[in-house]
Amino acid sequence: MAASDFADFHRGRRLRRSPGIRALVRESEIRPADLVMPYFVVETDDQAFKKPIGSMPGQFQLSLAELEKQVGAAVQNGLMAVLLFGIPKQKDEQGSQAYADEGIVQEAVRRLKQRFPELTVITDVCLCEYTSHGHCGLVLQGGEIVNDPTLDLLARAALSHARAGADMVAPSDMMDGRVLAIRETLDENGFLDLPVMSYAVKYASAFYGPFREAAESTPKFGDRKTHQMDPANAREALREAAADLDEGADILMVKPGLPYLDIIRQLRDCCDVPIAAYNVSGEYSMVKAAAANGWIDEERVVMETMTCFKRAGADIILTYHAEDVLRWLHR
Ligand code: PBG
Repeated sequence: MAASDFADFHRGRRLRRSPGIRALVRESEIRPADLVMPYFVVETDDQAFKKPIGSMPGQFQLSLAELEKQVGAAVQNGLMAVLLFGIPKQKDEQGSQAYADEGIVQEAVRRLKQRFPELTVITDVCLCEYTSHGHCGLVLQGGEIVNDPTLDLLARAALSHARAGADMVAPSDMMDGRVLAIRETLDENGFLDLPVMSYAVKYASAFYGPFREAAESTPKFGDRKTHQMDPANAREALREAAADLDEGADILMVKPGLPYLDIIRQLRDCCDVPIAAYNVSGEYSMVKAAAANGWIDEERVVMETMTCFKRAGADIILTYHAEDVLRWLHR
């Protein structure tokens, strides 16, 4: 036998030979505890209300009763955390239902915490689902979204969620200084131990399209580019992360997820806090559409995606696939 038959090259296939060996050397794995499932809860008198979201097959707008039912089934399957979005009956210029003690999200928090005390209930803090103009902050005549006067309203929203029993608040509005405003208000009111998961690095993304149908939060004019980040920027992400940490954020989120894995990795490497990835509506809808056409294997694509979030450095994954992933993990 010629010596060259045993040439000294890397034999990576040795560690891929069997499922057992592959499992032994696997670096990243998704666990049920990593997942957060978002839900859309609607203020309605019709407790049987369950309306499919056209652009997000498998997702629904739910009444309080239907939310409780659906979360109950998911909890049975191992779901440990939810993120709540509310759709109020009435919207106004100031988004007052966002910080109403009897608002829909506040009611949903009370209901879920009473029924599932162990479940981690996280609330999205923003005005856009509650304002008549669909913007995340107060709007001046002429259309400018004003920063500082909005902060007080966001802090009030976070406080009302805390009072209802939320386990964590997640500001998604991208106003400057909102983490500080929320932290101070929570602390002053005795919620020193309530964590803030900041949508610290949130880009002005077309991938939110389907969500805006789901949450009925499409801006009536203009866009979100004066507060959400430019998808072209990575160094700016580090500045946003540093600012939010400084203001008291406990967890940093990157949003959207898949096209921004480089940002997740950079935050993982620069910061010691837990990093969350939001696998947003448009990412979900693309998978669903391709799967419905038989073009991809949904389960395999989704599980691969989840693993890649972990590999990139995410500790927490917010995803509309969460209920499905839990079922697939149990198989
Ligand atoms: C509210 C908010 C949005 C999302 C989460 N919180 C929409 C937006 O900023 O326009 C997007 C979530 C998704 O697309 O799944 N500001």
